[in-house]
Amino acid sequence: MHGARFSKFGFIMASAGSAVGLGNIWKFPYMTGENGGGAFVLIYLLTITFVGLSLFLAEVVIGRLSRGDAVSAFESLAPRNGNLWKYSGFMIFTGILILSFYTIVIGWIFKYIYVSAFSLPSSVKEAGSSFGGMLSADTTTQTLFFTLAFFVTFFIVSKGVKQGIEKINLILMPLLVIILLILLAYSFTLSGFGKAVAFLFVPDFSKVHSSSILAAVGHAFFTLSLGMGTIMTYAASIPKDANIAKSSLMVAVLDTVIALVAGLVIFSFLFHFNAEPSQGPGLIFISLPPLFYQLGILGNAIGVLFFMALAFAGITSAVSIVEPTVMYMIDRFKISRTKSLVILSAVVYLLGMLALLSNIDELKKYVTFFGKGFFDIFDFLSSSVLLPLGGILIAIFVGFVIEKNRLYSLLSPFMSDSIFNLWYFSIKYITPIGVFAVMINKIFF
Ligand code: PFF
Repeated sequence: MHGARFSKFGFIMASAGSAVGLGNIWKFPYMTGENGGGAFVLIYLLTITFVGLSLFLAEVVIGRLSRGDAVSAFESLAPRNGNLWKYSGFMIFTGILILSFYTIVIGWIFKYIYVSAFSLPSSVKEAGSSFGGMLSADTTTQTLFFTLAFFVTFFIVSKGVKQGIEKINLILMPLLVIILLILLAYSFTLSGFGKAVAFLFVPDFSKVHSSSILAAVGHAFFTLSLGMGTIMTYAASIPKDANIAKSSLMVAVLDTVIALVAGLVIFSFLFHFNAEPSQGPGLIFISLPPLFYQLGILGNAIGVLFFMALAFAGITSAVSIVEPTVMYMIDRFKISRTKSLVILSAVVYLLGMLALLSNIDELKKYVTFFGKGFFDIFDFLSSSVLLPLGGILIAIFVGFVIEKNRLYSLLSPFMSDSIFNLWYFSIKYITPIGVFAVMINKIFF
């Protein structure tokens, strides 16, 4: 079995650290910008409430009951056909795909801490060409920062659940919240604040099409770290008497609030300076730096704080993407943490380099697949296909395979019967059918 367990607070911080990540501060704002604002946010909020939260609790239940890695969890909790159900546990490998592009983005962020301090671009045009230039031509810088992000992540995981993961989250998560609050306070003073509120919270359904719906649902999975066994794995190290219902609710609320705050901050800046919200993945790297530039030395400080917050959020999530596979390797093959990390890191590094090189113009023609770069493929495949599929499997497993009595006796100390029944109904029907319908709709229509 694995080593030391989380403390109660440590579990909440570590799960929140996993959930709150680049998904909240990098992806959520640019996806909202690309998908027209309020309507996208509304679908995302509905998915978090009716699907995300129940699935989060379902993953915690599986981890808490099994106390093992994700593969053995499915195997040991299934009353029958455990040898077949265990294959669901291989959803942990989705993490390898996510990590390979996620670490690249953390690398960009490291670079932008430096850019914010010393060389902010003075116009959007300059910012666009320097970000675009890095992405499509500067293999050296990207490889350097990707490698740095990669080592930081694997180093923390090498220290284990308590000394590595819990410790780093207890330090970085409060720092992240403080930085975001400072930035939010500042954005109140900007003239774009009101517009940002309207953009995020007034839905315009004419801007929604089926791909935005799938994107919003996929993003709800991504942002809560659902559908690949991460929360399950962390919950395997939860103390026995922890209130798992309250912890799950706290993490989901914190994750959502942080995404909305990040959105408010970013869009306040954009609208204050009349910049475009639909810039795609480059949004925070292209639109924000020239705005920071206009604020002089204050802008340098805000920029450094902003990108540091992002780096902290990214690292605590990256660590959580690695842990399920590491725990699986330690439990199953009885090898050391270090050995499993060496094997895993080799795979992630190779795939990460593949994704990175597939963005480089000169190399594009050699490292693309059906005309798409590996970076985009890994992102789309994980968020829009594999995580939702993993979520459906988890919902079916908890809703139809684990005995209801077992669920009830675990959860009843923490919730009323009516809440339990509501959760059970959601996990049995709403989650699998809803997510399946969205996926089918996207594939066929
Ligand atoms: N939730 C993280 C984010 O929003 O950035 C990303 C993530 C972490 C996805 C862990 C999946 C996961 F298992």
